[in-house]
Amino acid sequence: MIKAALYYAQKLNYKLFLAPKGYGMAIPTAVLEQQYKEGIYGFLDSLDERANYMVTIGYIHHFAESLKEAPRLLDLGCGHGRLPELLAPFSWKSYVGLDKSVEAIKQAEAAGFNNSKFLVADFEEYTPDEKFDCIVSLGSIHYVPDAAAVLKCFTGALSENGVFIVSLWRHGHNAAIWRNIEKHFEVIDSTVVTNKGGVSWDIKVFRNGKQPLTGNRQS
Ligand SMILES: C[S@@+](CC[C@H](N)C(=O)[O-])C[C@H]1O[C@@H](n2cnc3c(N)ncnc32)[C@H](O)[C@@H]1O
Repeated sequence: MIKAALYYAQKLNYKLFLAPKGYGMAIPTAVLEQQYKEGIYGFLDSLDERANYMVTIGYIHHFAESLKEAPRLLDLGCGHGRLPELLAPFSWKSYVGLDKSVEAIKQAEAAGFNNSKFLVADFEEYTPDEKFDCIVSLGSIHYVPDAAAVLKCFTGALSENGVFIVSLWRHGHNAAIWRNIEKHFEVIDSTVVTNKGGVSWDIKVFRNGKQPLTGNRQS
């Protein structure tokens, strides 16, 4: 009884006070494992989701063009590896996918991507020991209480001109998560995609410090 009351009080506190401030909510690992075993994230392979990935890939491609070699990529919450699957035609120098679900990582590894490693890791705790040209988070950063704090921890892992590419669907209080991130990082580009079913995603690119915007279309 007391346990149930405490649970509902915490839920209410989250809904009324924390979520509107942009605090994300973690999914328990046991739930994630069950979801991956049941194939719930198979929906990410559908046409409905494709535009979100392709805009993200377009950004990776754009920033890779300024490098002399293929990019080094870090994927926070990589799931079963849909991003590298769609990115494969563009190639990469190295790709590291992190996910806290053992089952997701097992499925991603089974695809046998080149120059890639998949790690079971919580991106709130992981400390990278290498540099990346793009650090990507597709539909994963809203699962932590403080998304901006996570990105701040990864700034040291960005190469000199490295970027964060973050995608979130427009849902709940995700706008507050963006506001929190944008207090610390400058948006250097952003795109909204909406599918036929009316689901929209914001895909935003961030870099540390102030960078001049170039190549803007003049109205
Ligand atoms: C909706 S899925 C998206 C998967 C993948 N990014 C994609 O778009 O294909 C969100 C993923 O984030 C992972 N995730 C959530 N919180 C995490 C954390 N703190 N550390 C690592 N992975 C996390 C989940 O396990 C899940 O696989």
